[in-house]
Amino acid sequence: MSIKKKYNYMLFGNPVCHSKSPIIYQCFAKDIGFIFNYGSQHVEKNMFANVMLEFFNTHGQGANVTVPFKEEAYKLSHVVTRRAQITRSVNVLKRLRNNVILGDNTDGIGLIYDLKRLNFININKKILLIGAGGAARGIIPNLLSYNCSIDIVNRTFSKADNLALYFKKFGYIKAIPIDDLKDLNYHIVINATSSGIQNECNFFLSNFIFYPERTVFYDLYYNDKSTPFLKWYQDHGGIYYADGIGMLVSQAAYSFYLWNGIFPNIPYVIHILNKNKKYWCI
Ligand code: ATR
Repeated sequence: MSIKKKYNYMLFGNPVCHSKSPIIYQCFAKDIGFIFNYGSQHVEKNMFANVMLEFFNTHGQGANVTVPFKEEAYKLSHVVTRRAQITRSVNVLKRLRNNVILGDNTDGIGLIYDLKRLNFININKKILLIGAGGAARGIIPNLLSYNCSIDIVNRTFSKADNLALYFKKFGYIKAIPIDDLKDLNYHIVINATSSGIQNECNFFLSNFIFYPERTVFYDLYYNDKSTPFLKWYQDHGGIYYADGIGMLVSQAAYSFYLWNGIFPNIPYVIHILNKNKKYWCI
């Protein structure tokens, strides 16, 4: 596989074709008055380690890593930040001196930035987290370090239970079998499943008593319209909600900072992206 040589900074994943990251970095760079060449590359599932080696041994300075390679990126980092170590997953890599590769995870801090921007979070909030895959793993430590309590539900209970056991040393987190969940009496409900990618709603939400006036909904995923999860909330009278665009921009901003030491203007770039949402599908 040949790597696009003109980019020193790249996103690697499978798939990457619909990624908004190149546009986001272009907006950061333009706003700051900076030249920043960032591209994206689709990687075959068994080729990730080889591609990374070639990228960083030639022209690569920094990389973002997305599904399904975040755990592999953690394993091939030479040194990792504490937050990457806790989540055991890496979404940003940086080449340091002597070809040492640093791995970091900016997903959780990006989510917290966005929840604060939206005024959705304060300490001691009760959170229902839906999903127990890599996306959930990346955000749990930051939510716990904000002194929030987390109930986690998942289609496959054992995966939620394993996550709760792993993270319980960092704060209050409990796995709940779906059948034991009585109502949605939470401050924040976060969707960290990939159900929206398949354009499905979470299969169990409709069974619960729900308080739209005191519960905000946040979907880690996004698309050009409303996600099925957020549509369900709106259809049931909810008015406080957001998709994952703000988190996407925020985690990118922390990556940009790691690479360049400059922190970009997050609200401005979220505004630009939302304004142009109708063109996303083209
Ligand atoms: P990611 O790394 O993006 O989190 P993942 O590790 O494949 O992806 O995890 C996907 C999550 O979405 C899992 O929690 C999965 O539930 P299972 O653990 O039971 O597989 C959840 N998920 C996927 N499709 C779903 C659907 N249609 N309804 C509910 N949950 C779904």
